[in-house]
Amino acid sequence: MADLVADLIPVALPQNPYEIAIAAGLLDDLGPQLRDRAGLKNRRLLVVSNPLIFKHYGDRAIASLTAAGYDVARCILPAGERYKTPRSIQKIHDAALDHRLERGSAIVAIGGGVIGDMAGFAAATWLRGIGVVQVPTSLLAMVDAAIGGKTGVNHPRGKNLIGAFHQPKRVLIDPTVLKTLPVRELRAGMAEVIKYGVIWDAALFEQLEAAPRLDRYGDIAPLLQDILRCSCQAKAEVVAQDEKEAGLRAILNYGHTIAHAVESLTGYRSVNHGEAVAIGMVAAGAIATALNLWEPSCEARQRALIEKTALPVALPPGLAIADILDSLQLDKKVKDGQVQFILPTAIGQVEIRDRVPTDVLRQILTAMQP
Ligand code: GLY
Repeated sequence: MADLVADLIPVALPQNPYEIAIAAGLLDDLGPQLRDRAGLKNRRLLVVSNPLIFKHYGDRAIASLTAAGYDVARCILPAGERYKTPRSIQKIHDAALDHRLERGSAIVAIGGGVIGDMAGFAAATWLRGIGVVQVPTSLLAMVDAAIGGKTGVNHPRGKNLIGAFHQPKRVLIDPTVLKTLPVRELRAGMAEVIKYGVIWDAALFEQLEAAPRLDRYGDIAPLLQDILRCSCQAKAEVVAQDEKEAGLRAILNYGHTIAHAVESLTGYRSVNHGEAVAIGMVAAGAIATALNLWEPSCEARQRALIEKTALPVALPPGLAIADILDSLQLDKKVKDGQVQFILPTAIGQVEIRDRVPTDVLRQILTAMQP
């Protein structure tokens, strides 16, 4: 595809640098991208996807890979966060063995965050680490999960507790695939986009504020290339400065501390990840305002943006505050028994705090009950 012009965003890691390419039509250019841009010379590839995504895009992806000379097998896993388990990793490894993947072979993840995280973890652990190429098909995966090398599966008592850092060889984003994304998932991805506006990129935040509506594909589509470029750029800059989350990278967890508790307590079913992040950002914004770190007007602007995207601003029904507080202790970001919160101090700026008084937390969560 000679005339394909992509936005290229470097993830400038010292050991494993790679690029994120964003362009309409990239799905039909997968083969040349892997062969000529990601340098994958070994012929054997394993495509990991879920049934719905594979039905929409599998044939096109495999046609492009095969035309570029690859010998492609597939492993199709059931869709959904509840299948993000060690058992699914076993299935990918079974397929890797059947297809005789070698050290130089790669896994190609075509799907949302669940598929990307599992395919990445299977690649990290097969033969002590083979390549993975991320082809995200949800907005959430495009702007977050596919970038930065966090891979893994859930433990029954906590999200993403089993995992590894394993950077992809390349991230290939074709925004046109979002046309088939259910609107609820599109909005979920917008939660992470809003997150980048709050933590890193005030101009992105203002661009989102200027949009009349953000709750439907038709209204988001004209902004998509910009939204994707700014969000991926923000993530790439943060990851390049702190690959293994020794410090700065923790800011990407803005809204995620309470989000993970909400997801875990609702069994990863009734509330999706982006909705939980929206709830978590509302809580974090209220905490920051209560601690005099953030202007109430900024908190109101964030809330307005979340509401414009038709994302939730209240806790789901039936959650006990005591259970949320308990669940926070299981978060990966707990340090010496102190729960870490990422709290905004301006639009485009946050800081990490680990001493949020429990009574402030309890008060804010109580006010967020439906
Ligand atoms: N999703 C948060 C991170 O990649 O660090």
